[in-house]
Amino acid sequence: MKKILVVGSSNTDLIIQVPEIPRPGETVLGSRFQTFPGGKGANQAVAAARAGGEVIFIAAVGDDPYGSEAVKGYRRDRINCEDIKVCRDTPSGIALISVSEKGENAISVAPGANYKLSPEDMEEAEAAFDEADLMLIQLEITLDTVHRAVEICEELRTRVILNPAPATDLPDGILNRTDIITPNEAEAERLTGIRIRNEKGAWKAAEWLHRKGVRTVIITLGARGAYLSDPATGPGRMIPGFAVNAVDTTAAGDVFNGQLAVALSEGKSLEHAIGLAHAAAALSVQKTGAQSSIPMREETDYFYQANLANQHTK
Ligand code: RIB
Repeated sequence: MKKILVVGSSNTDLIIQVPEIPRPGETVLGSRFQTFPGGKGANQAVAAARAGGEVIFIAAVGDDPYGSEAVKGYRRDRINCEDIKVCRDTPSGIALISVSEKGENAISVAPGANYKLSPEDMEEAEAAFDEADLMLIQLEITLDTVHRAVEICEELRTRVILNPAPATDLPDGILNRTDIITPNEAEAERLTGIRIRNEKGAWKAAEWLHRKGVRTVIITLGARGAYLSDPATGPGRMIPGFAVNAVDTTAAGDVFNGQLAVALSEGKSLEHAIGLAHAAAALSVQKTGAQSSIPMREETDYFYQANLANQHTK
């Protein structure tokens, strides 16, 4: 089976349900408090494993119970954890998350050990890079580490999917080594400086990213679906998503990326892979938490087939 390499963050999510996301200076009284495993890298690794991929995860955790519990969870999902480093005297990554009654969230992250994952660690994980068919990476680790990881993939001609989250500016040296980029609306606006109010805005942002050397651009637009632009496969177009009642959108983007990576490694077309990724994300937003909400491949395939006719076309 083809192997998916995920390089990225591992966090523990401390989640409070609130009536509304607090504004600056405001205190809101919430209800339930829960602790779940999270982190964009880890969520994507778990999503890819549950989608049926053979996953190697390169990450860093602290020498605390949060880190050891997180790694136990990845092992339960049959993820190869040989290249997860445990940093002494360092806290594991923590995310404080407020989830509103509308299912929206606000997230603050203390990176902790995630920022100790270094460019040298990428070189030491040579075997993992050698074995991988495709690498999936995000931006909750340092840009120097992301840069080295994409350089190694370029040397090995390994495909790179970059999920540029959380939003930040990126150097050309990362963009021009990226095969597929998957920003959401806000991340695409931050990267390109182009407002994405409609399909035309998405087209302009995609053109900007193509000029930087990215071959395939997939801009996720929440419940509306995703804008796909890949000049080699035709003009830019919307791939509609599935309309569901969201209770918690945390990690929906991560689930999308994990499932997308597996479907592409299986040789599915971009349209089909995006459809499956929408299906997995639609299932995840109907449950609370990050990794707790990630579906297994059978559920995704069933939902995709059952709802193809109802793809949301707005
Ligand atoms: O994308 C969702 C994730 O962002 C959460 O699990 C949290 O840990 C933050 O990294």
